[in-house]
Amino acid sequence: MNEKRIALVTGAMGGIGTAICHKLKDDGYLVLATHRPGKETAAQEWLQAESFTAEEVAPLALDVCGTQACAQALKEVMEKYGRVDVLVNNAGLTRDTTFKRMTFEQWDEVINTNLNSLFNVTQPIFKTMCEQGSGRIINITSINGLKGQFGQANYAAAKAGMIGFTKSLALESARSGVTVNAVAPGYTATPMVSALKDEVLESIKGQIPQRRLATPEEIAKSISYLASDDAGFITGETLNINGGQYMH
Ligand code: CAA
Repeated sequence: MNEKRIALVTGAMGGIGTAICHKLKDDGYLVLATHRPGKETAAQEWLQAESFTAEEVAPLALDVCGTQACAQALKEVMEKYGRVDVLVNNAGLTRDTTFKRMTFEQWDEVINTNLNSLFNVTQPIFKTMCEQGSGRIINITSINGLKGQFGQANYAAAKAGMIGFTKSLALESARSGVTVNAVAPGYTATPMVSALKDEVLESIKGQIPQRRLATPEEIAKSISYLASDDAGFITGETLNINGGQYMH
């Protein structure tokens, strides 16, 4: 049985995911870093590029959109490691387009990956966390789930849904020593944001009072805090990290 505490991070190879893995690794966790099935080579390259050792970060192929696939893979995780102490639901993607032009596939892919994944990944782990009497679940939502965003009806709907899920699960787990929180990053220096057209990005930066993007490390540090023992009385909360772009 592994002696380190276990943290499972979905979408680990992305911009924010990578920073979260580094921070939780530095905090002493064994990090189970999930990636899409079929991306095994990319996962090995990522481990090397980030200089993660096998004792620090273990890759895990997980289709977060597959209910049965998640149930099976996470059962194996429990058999192998005995527990998961921290779950970070970070996997997510964008299919930005105006709603008039949006196809059902673009809607469905975003809802499936960003929202339905919470059911698939969290349920098998949540039950064990409640039984073990401790645990931290941290859901990565977005500023745009709170304020809405032109061109993101699908993404904003999924990200807002994550917040309702967070609050409900926080109530259901409050007496079990499990906390459930959300982190809502604003625009962050990641490949997802650099994929925006230059003029769109410039216009967005102009809407950020601090006039800069967040760094992935700034986001990761908040996850480290919410995962820590010090944050035991914080549950059902959404922590906004957006340079003042949206306050509520
Ligand atoms: N408000 C009002 N109108 C807007 C607007 C806005 N914010 N943005 C664009 N428009 C208008 C344009 O002025 C244009 O109007 P006209 O036709 O009258 O000139 C019209 O809408 C079409 O705009 P585009 O030329 O930009 O249309 P497009 O089809 O090329 O692109 C889009 C549409 C893909 C949605 C593009 O506007 C876009 O990328 N928007 C930004 C979406 C965004 O912020 N995504 C965040 C990605 S990062 C992320 O999601 C991480 C996170 O959590 C923060």
